[in-house]
Amino acid sequence: MISLQHITKTYPVGDGLTVLDDVCLDINEGEYVGILGKSGSGKSTMLHIMGLLDRPTSGLLSFNGRPVHALDDRELSELRGSLVGFVFQAFHLVPQLSVSENVELPLYYQRIPRRERRERAAHALEQVGMSARRGHVSSQLSGGERQRTAIARALVTEPALILADEPTGNLDSRTGGDIVALLERLHGQGRTIVMITHDREIASHLPRVVHIRDGRIEGV
Ligand SMILES: Nc1ncnc2c1ncn2[C@@H]1O[C@H](COP(=O)(O)OP(=O)(O)O)[C@@H](O)[C@H]1O
Ligand SMILES: [Mg+2]
Repeated sequence: MISLQHITKTYPVGDGLTVLDDVCLDINEGEYVGILGKSGSGKSTMLHIMGLLDRPTSGLLSFNGRPVHALDDRELSELRGSLVGFVFQAFHLVPQLSVSENVELPLYYQRIPRRERRERAAHALEQVGMSARRGHVSSQLSGGERQRTAIARALVTEPALILADEPTGNLDSRTGGDIVALLERLHGQGRTIVMITHDREIASHLPRVVHIRDGRIEGV
Protein backbone atom coordinates (compact mmCIF):
# COMPACT_ATOMS: atom_id res chain seq x y z
CA MET A 1 0.00 0.00 0.00
CA ILE A 2 2.77 2.39 0.89
CA SER A 3 6.25 1.99 -0.44
CA LEU A 4 9.41 3.87 0.46
CA GLN A 5 12.29 3.21 -1.91
CA HIS A 6 15.78 4.48 -1.13
CA ILE A 7 14.43 7.46 0.77
CA THR A 8 16.94 9.96 2.10
CA LYS A 9 16.34 13.18 3.97
CA THR A 10 19.04 15.77 4.48
CA TYR A 11 18.35 18.97 6.41
CA PRO A 12 20.29 22.10 5.43
CA VAL A 13 22.18 22.26 8.73
CA GLY A 14 25.95 22.84 8.58
CA ASP A 15 27.33 20.74 5.72
CA GLY A 16 23.96 18.97 5.58
CA LEU A 17 22.46 16.74 8.25
CA THR A 18 21.39 13.38 6.84
CA VAL A 19 18.56 12.11 9.02
CA LEU A 20 17.28 9.31 6.78
CA ASP A 21 19.77 7.29 4.80
CA ASP A 22 18.56 4.97 2.03
CA VAL A 23 15.37 3.81 3.76
CA CYS A 24 13.40 1.09 1.97
CA LEU A 25 10.12 -0.06 3.51
CA ASP A 26 6.86 -1.54 2.26
CA ILE A 27 3.69 -1.48 4.32
CA ASN A 28 0.79 -3.62 3.24
CA GLU A 29 -2.89 -2.91 3.66
CA GLY A 30 -4.16 -4.08 7.03
CA GLU A 31 -0.75 -4.17 8.73
CA TYR A 32 0.01 -2.85 12.22
CA VAL A 33 3.66 -1.85 12.14
CA GLY A 34 5.78 -0.40 14.91
CA ILE A 35 8.80 1.76 14.21
CA LEU A 36 11.23 1.43 17.09
CA GLY A 37 14.29 3.58 17.60
CA LYS A 38 16.00 5.94 20.00
CA SER A 39 15.28 9.63 20.19
CA GLY A 40 16.87 11.41 17.23
CA SER A 41 17.06 8.28 15.06
CA GLY A 42 14.80 9.77 12.38
CA LYS A 43 11.43 8.20 13.28
CA SER A 44 9.32 11.36 13.13
CA THR A 45 11.01 12.47 9.92
CA MET A 46 10.14 9.12 8.36
CA LEU A 47 6.53 9.33 9.55
CA HIS A 48 6.19 12.87 8.19
CA ILE A 49 7.44 11.70 4.79
CA MET A 50 5.08 8.69 4.84
CA GLY A 51 2.21 10.99 5.78
CA LEU A 52 3.00 13.52 3.03
CA LEU A 53 3.74 16.26 5.54
CA ASP A 54 7.30 16.50 4.27
CA ARG A 55 9.15 15.59 1.09
CA PRO A 56 12.21 13.37 0.90
CA THR A 57 15.51 14.76 -0.42
CA SER A 58 15.76 11.75 -2.73
CA GLY A 59 14.09 8.40 -3.25
CA LEU A 60 10.63 7.33 -4.25
CA LEU A 61 7.42 7.25 -2.23
CA SER A 62 4.30 5.65 -3.62
CA PHE A 63 0.77 4.87 -2.47
CA ASN A 64 -0.93 1.87 -4.05
CA GLY A 65 1.70 1.89 -6.78
CA ARG A 66 1.19 5.55 -7.55
CA PRO A 67 4.31 7.69 -7.11
CA VAL A 68 3.69 10.96 -5.30
CA HIS A 69 6.87 12.95 -5.99
CA ALA A 70 5.37 14.71 -9.02
CA LEU A 71 2.38 16.10 -7.11
CA ASP A 72 2.38 19.79 -6.24
CA ASP A 73 1.70 21.02 -2.71
CA ARG A 74 -2.04 21.39 -3.21
CA GLU A 75 -2.43 17.89 -4.67
CA LEU A 76 -0.25 16.50 -1.91
CA SER A 77 -2.35 18.08 0.81
CA GLU A 78 -5.56 16.83 -0.82
CA LEU A 79 -4.18 13.31 -0.96
CA ARG A 80 -3.01 13.59 2.65
CA GLY A 81 -6.45 14.73 3.79
CA SER A 82 -8.19 11.76 2.22
CA LEU A 83 -5.54 9.08 2.82
CA VAL A 84 -3.89 9.69 6.17
CA GLY A 85 -4.99 10.22 9.77
CA PHE A 86 -2.39 11.44 12.28
CA VAL A 87 -2.09 10.88 16.00
CA PHE A 88 0.60 12.80 17.90
CA GLN A 89 2.26 12.46 21.27
CA ALA A 90 0.99 15.88 22.40
CA PHE A 91 -2.59 15.27 21.12
CA HIS A 92 -2.83 18.64 19.31
CA LEU A 93 -6.47 19.25 20.21
CA VAL A 94 -7.97 22.74 20.16
CA PRO A 95 -8.50 23.38 23.89
CA GLN A 96 -11.50 25.74 23.54
CA LEU A 97 -13.47 23.36 21.33
CA SER A 98 -15.59 20.48 22.54
CA VAL A 99 -14.60 16.88 21.99
CA SER A 100 -17.10 16.57 19.15
CA GLU A 101 -15.97 19.84 17.52
CA ASN A 102 -12.34 18.70 17.60
CA VAL A 103 -13.27 15.46 15.88
CA GLU A 104 -15.38 17.31 13.29
CA LEU A 105 -12.53 19.67 12.36
CA PRO A 106 -11.00 17.62 9.49
CA LEU A 107 -14.51 17.30 7.99
CA TYR A 108 -15.02 21.03 8.34
CA TYR A 109 -11.90 21.58 6.23
CA GLN A 110 -13.33 19.16 3.67
CA ARG A 111 -16.48 21.34 3.60
CA ILE A 112 -18.73 18.51 4.78
CA PRO A 113 -22.12 19.86 5.92
CA ARG A 114 -22.68 20.29 9.63
CA ARG A 115 -25.18 17.55 10.15
CA GLU A 116 -23.04 14.93 8.45
CA ARG A 117 -20.04 16.17 10.48
CA ARG A 118 -21.98 15.60 13.70
CA GLU A 119 -23.03 12.12 12.70
CA ARG A 120 -19.59 11.01 11.58
CA ALA A 121 -17.94 12.48 14.68
CA ALA A 122 -20.46 10.63 16.86
CA HIS A 123 -19.60 7.39 15.10
CA ALA A 124 -15.83 7.93 15.48
CA LEU A 125 -16.24 8.81 19.16
CA GLU A 126 -18.21 5.62 19.68
CA GLN A 127 -15.31 3.62 18.25
CA VAL A 128 -12.89 5.03 20.84
CA GLY A 129 -15.30 4.88 23.79
CA MET A 130 -15.72 8.65 24.11
CA SER A 131 -19.43 9.11 23.31
CA ALA A 132 -20.36 10.12 26.84
CA ARG A 133 -17.81 12.96 26.81
CA ARG A 134 -18.57 14.45 23.41
CA GLY A 135 -19.85 17.77 24.80
CA HIS A 136 -16.87 18.32 27.14
CA VAL A 137 -14.37 21.03 26.40
CA SER A 138 -11.17 19.21 25.54
CA SER A 139 -9.11 21.07 28.16
CA GLN A 140 -11.22 19.30 30.82
CA LEU A 141 -10.14 15.84 29.69
CA SER A 142 -7.55 13.48 31.11
CA GLY A 143 -4.52 12.56 28.97
CA GLY A 144 -5.99 9.22 27.96
CA GLU A 145 -9.29 10.87 27.00
CA ARG A 146 -7.42 13.47 24.96
CA GLN A 147 -5.60 10.78 23.04
CA ARG A 148 -8.84 8.87 22.43
CA THR A 149 -10.35 12.07 21.07
CA ALA A 150 -7.29 12.59 18.84
CA ILE A 151 -7.67 9.02 17.55
CA ALA A 152 -11.35 9.67 16.79
CA ARG A 153 -10.28 12.78 14.87
CA ALA A 154 -7.81 10.64 12.90
CA LEU A 155 -10.55 8.08 12.14
CA VAL A 156 -13.31 10.47 11.15
CA THR A 157 -12.14 10.94 7.55
CA GLU A 158 -11.99 7.13 7.11
CA PRO A 159 -8.29 7.27 6.14
CA ALA A 160 -6.57 4.30 4.51
CA LEU A 161 -3.63 4.77 6.85
CA ILE A 162 -3.26 5.87 10.48
CA LEU A 163 0.13 7.24 11.51
CA ALA A 164 0.79 7.59 15.22
CA ASP A 165 3.93 9.34 16.49
CA GLU A 166 4.67 8.18 20.07
CA PRO A 167 0.94 8.20 20.96
CA THR A 168 1.70 6.91 24.46
CA GLY A 169 4.63 9.27 25.10
CA ASN A 170 2.67 11.68 27.32
CA LEU A 171 0.69 9.01 29.17
CA ASP A 172 1.35 6.86 32.22
CA SER A 173 2.05 3.23 31.38
CA ARG A 174 -1.44 1.95 32.15
CA THR A 175 -3.22 4.61 30.10
CA GLY A 176 -0.60 4.10 27.38
CA GLY A 177 -1.41 0.40 27.42
CA ASP A 178 -5.11 1.22 26.92
CA ILE A 179 -4.24 3.33 23.87
CA VAL A 180 -2.10 0.55 22.40
CA ALA A 181 -5.01 -1.86 22.99
CA LEU A 182 -7.37 0.56 21.24
CA LEU A 183 -5.07 0.77 18.22
CA GLU A 184 -4.85 -3.03 18.26
CA ARG A 185 -8.65 -3.23 18.16
CA LEU A 186 -8.80 -0.79 15.23
CA HIS A 187 -6.19 -2.91 13.45
CA GLY A 188 -8.41 -5.94 14.10
CA GLN A 189 -11.17 -4.09 12.22
CA GLY A 190 -8.91 -3.95 9.18
CA ARG A 191 -7.17 -0.61 9.56
CA THR A 192 -3.58 -0.03 8.55
CA ILE A 193 -1.58 1.52 11.37
CA VAL A 194 2.01 2.65 11.71
CA MET A 195 3.06 3.54 15.23
CA ILE A 196 6.33 5.08 16.32
CA THR A 197 7.70 4.26 19.72
CA HIS A 198 10.99 4.27 21.58
CA ASP A 199 9.52 1.84 24.13
CA ARG A 200 10.65 -1.78 23.63
CA GLU A 201 7.91 -3.08 25.92
CA ILE A 202 5.20 -1.48 23.77
CA ALA A 203 6.90 -2.63 20.57
CA SER A 204 7.03 -6.20 21.86
CA HIS A 205 3.21 -6.43 21.55
CA LEU A 206 3.15 -5.44 17.88
CA PRO A 207 2.91 -7.95 15.04
CA ARG A 208 5.73 -6.30 13.06
CA VAL A 209 8.49 -4.03 14.27
CA VAL A 210 10.92 -2.08 12.11
CA HIS A 211 14.10 -0.97 13.88
CA ILE A 212 15.65 2.33 12.92
CA ARG A 213 19.06 3.53 14.02
CA ASP A 214 20.83 6.71 12.91
CA GLY A 215 18.44 7.04 9.98
CA ARG A 216 18.92 3.52 8.67
CA ILE A 217 16.62 0.53 8.89
CA GLU A 218 18.30 -2.33 10.69
CA GLY A 219 17.94 -6.07 10.17
CA VAL A 220 15.12 -7.67 8.16
N1 LIG B 1 13.37 20.57 10.43
C1 LIG B 1 14.57 20.12 10.87
N2 LIG B 1 15.72 20.80 10.61
C2 LIG B 1 16.90 20.34 11.03
N3 LIG B 1 17.08 19.19 11.73
C3 LIG B 1 15.99 18.48 12.02
C4 LIG B 1 14.68 18.89 11.62
N4 LIG B 1 13.77 17.97 12.07
C5 LIG B 1 14.49 17.04 12.72
N5 LIG B 1 15.82 17.33 12.70
C6 LIG B 1 16.91 16.52 13.26
O1 LIG B 1 16.83 15.24 12.67
C7 LIG B 1 17.16 14.22 13.60
C8 LIG B 1 16.03 13.19 13.66
O2 LIG B 1 14.87 13.81 14.16
P1 LIG B 1 13.49 13.04 14.30
O3 LIG B 1 13.09 12.50 12.99
O4 LIG B 1 12.55 13.96 14.98
O5 LIG B 1 13.89 11.81 15.27
P2 LIG B 1 13.02 10.96 16.29
O6 LIG B 1 11.58 11.16 15.98
O7 LIG B 1 13.49 9.55 16.08
O8 LIG B 1 13.37 11.45 17.65
C9 LIG B 1 17.43 14.91 14.91
O9 LIG B 1 18.82 15.06 15.05
C10 LIG B 1 16.75 16.25 14.75
O10 LIG B 1 17.39 17.23 15.51
MG1 LIG C 1 10.03 11.86 17.12
